[in-house]
Amino acid sequence: HGYDLLVVGSANADLVIGVDRRPGAGETVLGSGLSVHPGGKGANQAVAAARLGARVALLARVGADAHGELLLESQRAAGVDTVGVLVGDGPTGVAVITVDGAGDNSIVVSPGANARLAPQDIRAAGSLLAAARVVSVQLEIPAETVAEVTRSLAPGARLVLNASPPAALAPEVLAACDPLVVNEHEALALLGGHPAGDSTDPGTWASALLSRGPRSVVVTLGAAGALAAGRHGTFTVPAPRVTVVDTTGAGDAFTGALAWRLSTGDGLEAAVRYAVRVGAAACAGAGAQSSFPRAGDAEGLGEGP
Ligand code: RIB
Ligand code: NA
Repeated sequence: HGYDLLVVGSANADLVIGVDRRPGAGETVLGSGLSVHPGGKGANQAVAAARLGARVALLARVGADAHGELLLESQRAAGVDTVGVLVGDGPTGVAVITVDGAGDNSIVVSPGANARLAPQDIRAAGSLLAAARVVSVQLEIPAETVAEVTRSLAPGARLVLNASPPAALAPEVLAACDPLVVNEHEALALLGGHPAGDSTDPGTWASALLSRGPRSVVVTLGAAGALAAGRHGTFTVPAPRVTVVDTTGAGDAFTGALAWRLSTGDGLEAAVRYAVRVGAAACAGAGAQSSFPRAGDAEGLGEGP
């Protein structure tokens, strides 16, 4: 296998403004600063895994513009193979992000070129798919492209799917997930109308999601760590305490780390334990990729509160 991990997904330029609090409808607030960071859930996952030592390739679309250059440069700097990054067909995706004093963010994404990543692009990337032990996807690219990824997996390859932002998933897609990764919002969105959605217990959500077909489910719980459910039952992993600066991309760091550890042969529990530490480290610095740890940093965070 040439790659531990192939990430198929989005690449965005993140335009970040600090705010004391977010405006409501019809309201104006003054914020501070404007920073431009490389982001996008796919690009972030690829950088997260590569920084930790994984051999990673990214399959994505960016525009032939300055934001596209920024994205390509950050991938290369992290050691990600960008042979699968297609350039052109619309502007690079942009995410407009506000971060408040507690480090919490809200994000609006204009997909741009990400919306043009088509099933045909997946079919044309057969050699990348054939060379990866684990393939990870998120939902900032078209649903039919995600479905094509699940149909194109090499024999024995494992799919990690982060349902972010949440959207309905076809049964064939759900059945391929091992694991399906969601945060609390995403779990509840996917469970819309299901009785488990009325529960406040993440274990109940995970069981209900598991009954829809994935081989395993991971629910990330922010400062409370993560819960996972699979063949060997359900377990929770606490997160180390960190001083939160900016949670942007923490879920991507978690999922990238998880996908990589699974590709090395870790069981789900060991992989989740590692990924929780990486996700916590990513909350301790500003921006997404800029805050992702290197191998030694994540281990140094220790386990549990
Ligand atoms: O998960 C964080 C990411 O979401 C940001 O980098 C932004 O680009 C959006 O895709
Ligand atoms: Na961060």
